[in-house]
Amino acid sequence: MRKEANPTMNEYLSDHVHLTDDGTAVVILDQTQLPCRTEYLTLRTAQEMFDAIRLLQVRGAPAIGICAAYDLYVLAQQVSSDTPEAFLTQLRQQADYLASSRPTAVNLSWALNRMLDIAAAQTSIADMLSALHRECIAIHEEDIAMCRAISEYGLTLIKDGDGILTHCNAGPLATSRYGTALGPLFLGKERGMHFHVFSDETRPLLQGARLTSYELSRAGIDVTLICDNMASLVMKNGWIQACFVGCDRVAANGDTANKIGTSGVAILARHYGIPFYVLGPTSTIDLSCATGADIPIEQRDPEEIKQKFYAEPMALPEVKCYNPAFDVTDQSLISGIVTEYGICRAPYTESLRTVFAQKTAG
Ligand code: MRU
Repeated sequence: MRKEANPTMNEYLSDHVHLTDDGTAVVILDQTQLPCRTEYLTLRTAQEMFDAIRLLQVRGAPAIGICAAYDLYVLAQQVSSDTPEAFLTQLRQQADYLASSRPTAVNLSWALNRMLDIAAAQTSIADMLSALHRECIAIHEEDIAMCRAISEYGLTLIKDGDGILTHCNAGPLATSRYGTALGPLFLGKERGMHFHVFSDETRPLLQGARLTSYELSRAGIDVTLICDNMASLVMKNGWIQACFVGCDRVAANGDTANKIGTSGVAILARHYGIPFYVLGPTSTIDLSCATGADIPIEQRDPEEIKQKFYAEPMALPEVKCYNPAFDVTDQSLISGIVTEYGICRAPYTESLRTVFAQKTAG
């Protein structure tokens, strides 16, 4: 990706995943070190790439798709095969391995499949490598454009001075440039608007505290960090005019998987009569899942609940833990799904299909 001469906060963050100049490695900003340290990691092997996604050093649905596309291009250069067929077989094995790092965000397999399809359409290994290089850059550049369009549509849903509640992190670090759920806030800020953002800390791994409040605060947007169990009170106080969240996979009927705790926010918003919007690109919509029941939910290491981020254990070692990384918000609780093609409203089975028809028509 090109680097900006005088990057704004968003431009700086949007470069958090990129190829090295010689294209033989992927560089990522290690998100597990934020907000305390800005450290970059250079990924060269399939194992390092798998671990970076699995351990959330790079995370957020669109960002892991972009990263995996770059990863596959780097791995493709390491394949030693005499024939295009053997090359493709090895490439598919690498793609399957990367795709197995996290199951919920569909952007991961979406980006890898795009890379495999473009390679399969070539007749020589040299052409495959050139096509793979173009495709991973295209995936990244398209994400920047999609986030910008989502930000424009999302901005029409709020007005100057509004209070917005968000959960987890769906800003530049989770995507590229503007982000999805946070995109309208960055865009509004550029246009002189002011918002009061309440960021759920987002247990267990605190993406809201570590990443969302960091991104917003560094961009000069008014942000207040709250514990997840405070969302009801700030809504009751009348401080929230809309909830904006990202998504990891949207089913054909609009059911939406996002960070664990999102469905609780939606239920609270319905109780208080506050609109609840999901913002995400069409690369996150999976029409092959009829409903949320078809979305695979990642289960993570119980130690993340008992140990992570604290000097001393927070629970006895023998205590049982349940640690799903995502939950599904029922489509009936969603006021609108904001995509790069516009705002889908219920019934989502129809409106999402219309969006895909638009996309296919180009
Ligand atoms: O586990 P994470 O940090 O990858 O979860 C991320 C989220 O749930 C985001 O809200 C989602 O990926 C949307 S990012 C635009």
